[in-house]
Amino acid sequence: MRSIGLALGLLAVVPAFAGTPNGILEGYRAAGAATVSAPRGEQLFTSRHGSDWSCSSCHTGNPLARGRHATTGKDIAPLAPAANAERFTDPARVEKWFRRNCNDVLGRACSVQEKADVLAYLMSLR
Ligand code: HEC
Repeated sequence: MRSIGLALGLLAVVPAFAGTPNGILEGYRAAGAATVSAPRGEQLFTSRHGSDWSCSSCHTGNPLARGRHATTGKDIAPLAPAANAERFTDPARVEKWFRRNCNDVLGRACSVQEKADVLAYLMSLR
């Protein structure tokens, strides 16, 4: 059986659809993100969660725009798929950066639900 790839319960992807934002969102649904909420994702994205940074600190409050790394000052390409067709097309890259950035901002990994909500928020931007 070509089984669903399930890494630590973080991401289940159906290979044929994995390489698109929708496919990655479907993967989160399959992994347990029941009701996906863009407003909840926006809230997570723009809040500091008690740390010095929010996601917006580097990706700006408008993820359709280019970002700027809060410490290195390096340019960051837009995060919203509507502004950057490369975003959310590579599940491994998405997981790597969610892991790193959620740790930096929330002090822990984001849950499948949180990742689904953030992705839904980013996909809602036009
Ligand atoms: C300290 C700066 C910084 C903060 C804060 C930050 N990011 Fe990032 N993020 C980056 C950098 C750097 C990259 C990788 C470079 C790139 O992809 O342009 C990245 C890439 C990503 C990617 C990869 C998407 C893809 O398909 O390429 C996702 C998803 C992401 N960030 C989500 C988040 C979320 C969610 C938060 C808040 C929890 C967050 N980031 C906070 C700097 C940051």
